[in-house]
Amino acid sequence: MTELKFLLEQVETHDYIRDIAEKFNYFFKEYEMGLLELQSDIEIIDLEWQARYGYSPFEHIKTRIKSPMSLKEKIEKKGVDFTPEAIRENIFDIIGVRIVTSFEDDVYQIYELLKNRNDLRIKRVKDYIKNPKPSGYKSLHLIVETELVLSEGVKWIPAEIQIRTLAMDFFASTEHKLQYKYNTKALSDDIRNELKEIADVSSALDQKMTEVRNTILLD
Ligand code: GTP
Ligand code: MG
Repeated sequence: MTELKFLLEQVETHDYIRDIAEKFNYFFKEYEMGLLELQSDIEIIDLEWQARYGYSPFEHIKTRIKSPMSLKEKIEKKGVDFTPEAIRENIFDIIGVRIVTSFEDDVYQIYELLKNRNDLRIKRVKDYIKNPKPSGYKSLHLIVETELVLSEGVKWIPAEIQIRTLAMDFFASTEHKLQYKYNTKALSDDIRNELKEIADVSSALDQKMTEVRNTILLD
């Protein structure tokens, strides 16, 4: 009898886990679809820009969907309930898009184009170009919602878009590797200062490139 009870409990647990898995499977699918929408918006901006200005504003674009493991860590860090609804309302970077441009001016022009779209809502802007992080990190961060048309109706899917120049990206990607991949939790002040110097040199490159571009445009 106790064996039967144990078996029944296992079946119930199994059903419960399957229910959760199904719910979360659908949950991630929505983000996959949202990312497809965003990617096509960005491709259209690229083509339109090329037609108008004769060059692509994008040096490269990277997209990612947060892995379940890293989502779990963030949920725990932020103390969010483990339900699809709570996650949707509190975590906005399950979809991540990084747009890398050649010129700093183009970062803001792309932002304007995104702002003017009816199928995109800008929810929050963090301008770490005008106000860099203490590390020296620069980038324009947008929390957006992208329109997803489903048979059941329209859904707005949150995403984080980071827009920055090649020089800002060089600094961010390399500094990130030093911070996390080498697992050096506490960087010494000396190292921080050196990194900050590298950030300043990267900013100087952007400035020089802008000056050269402006000279060419004025010629
Ligand atoms: P998260 O919990 O990390 O998303 O922080 P947040 O919600 O306060 O957002 P924030 O805009 O500060 O940072 C979001 C993302 O920007 C991070 O996940 C990193 O990818 C990047 N980032 C922010 N600060 C730095 C930095 O100092 N160095 C590097 N390399 N990347 C950074
Ligand atoms: Mg993040």
